[in-house]
Amino acid sequence: MGRENYLYKTPASKLVQVASIAAEYRDRPDMLMMVLIRVQAIVPALSKAVVTVIAREMNIPRNQVYSFVTFYAMLSVKPQGRYIIRMCKSAPCHVHGAKEVVDAIRDLLHLEIGETSEDGRFTLEYCPCLGLCENSPAIMINDRAYSNLTPERARDIIKQYIREEV
Ligand code: FES
Repeated sequence: MGRENYLYKTPASKLVQVASIAAEYRDRPDMLMMVLIRVQAIVPALSKAVVTVIAREMNIPRNQVYSFVTFYAMLSVKPQGRYIIRMCKSAPCHVHGAKEVVDAIRDLLHLEIGETSEDGRFTLEYCPCLGLCENSPAIMINDRAYSNLTPERARDIIKQYIREEV
């Protein structure tokens, strides 16, 4: 993880919202993942300040929060786009043409894996198996899954997001 990403500056108004969410689960370390997912929906990144606030309000060690944030692929210390496109990179998808699909998406958005578009709309990432292997290749865009993809179908789907028709 690039330290400069972790040091992304979260607006103070967002930190107030983060504190409010985390305070609902004081002394509930078992709810940490749920808190992180809720928080990630309202902040651009799980920054150092966000981690500190969550740890303080939930009354759990900061290292524990930091370990979650850096371990799970669905959590990010980097500012991400409004639409996060996750391309499965496990074997069944690969065998069924995932590379051609991801190439089509990269070409359309002019993005490399791990990048976010300059307008802040799209982030493109790889992820492990999405559990849709029987209908591979598959991607997720935020919380929506798309399977049985071809390069053409992937382009059509991404164009819907570009036109905000989703
Ligand atoms: S291998 Fe891609 S969804 Fe399982």
